[in-house]
Amino acid sequence: MKHLLTMENLTNDEVFQLIDRALEIKAGAPSLHRPDLFIANLFFENSTRTKLSFEIAEKHLGLKVVDFEVSTSSVNKGESLYDTCKTLEMIGTSILVIRHPEQTYYQQLEGLMIPIINGGDGSGEHPSQSLLDLMTIQEHFGRIEGLNIIIVGDIKNSRVARSNYHMLTRLGAQVRFVCPDLYKDVTLGEVVQFDDVVDEVDVCMLLRVQHERHDGSQIFDKDSYHLQYGLTSERYHRLKETAVVMHPAPVNRGVEIADELVEQEKSLIFPQMKNGMFMRQAILEKIIQENDL
Ligand code: CP
Repeated sequence: MKHLLTMENLTNDEVFQLIDRALEIKAGAPSLHRPDLFIANLFFENSTRTKLSFEIAEKHLGLKVVDFEVSTSSVNKGESLYDTCKTLEMIGTSILVIRHPEQTYYQQLEGLMIPIINGGDGSGEHPSQSLLDLMTIQEHFGRIEGLNIIIVGDIKNSRVARSNYHMLTRLGAQVRFVCPDLYKDVTLGEVVQFDDVVDEVDVCMLLRVQHERHDGSQIFDKDSYHLQYGLTSERYHRLKETAVVMHPAPVNRGVEIADELVEQEKSLIFPQMKNGMFMRQAILEKIIQENDL
């Protein structure tokens, strides 16, 4: 694995190796220690979890984290993404973690030697989020194959939905969607009604409505969205005893999920965030080892 750009580029074996390694690190296994390597996190879109959990993972591996902020960089003087990344490569950075609003932004970086970890490309993919979601599901159920999963929300604009749909389906889960017509992605799977399936699913994965990717022409009514597409207390109580609730976060409480359910018993929302740091350590180790850094 030279880069981590999409889930499609990972084999099933690689996915399970990463999950096993992340769970080992979580259980206290020692990780690589490489204080000789520099890494930069380039976030051209806002982030709390991805940026900071990568940073903490990097520090656990002893890496030196280069202080790069888009807002104070020469990007604001018109420097291209390619030139910014080439500059970081030339001055001695060994790995780049990049989040960018442009889908498949990494194609313009193909000429670079430096390994790239995709921290999210527009509405494209979010592979490290998908891997931490898979880790959380595997850790909880001991399997992925055969699980009945719904992904609920703004499917069309969600990189998490795309990465998770493809990989969960490949690993043998049944994945269906619940969403308004406006947020449907016709290239993905079957759309069902929330109330028709809520009592049969193993995983109810909720997504935030990505207002920043909408053109603003539609009026969004939070209360009406919550009643139709949100996890209300009533729907929560219809979930199977063994079902879990997931969300990549940030969560808009009271919209895609009722406020009081975010930390209820069936919710893995905060455990997902915790797992994210361990999964990102596992990803970084694999990139370091397989690139002979
Ligand atoms: N889940 C996720 O990507 O969160 P951030 O946008 O805070 O990184």
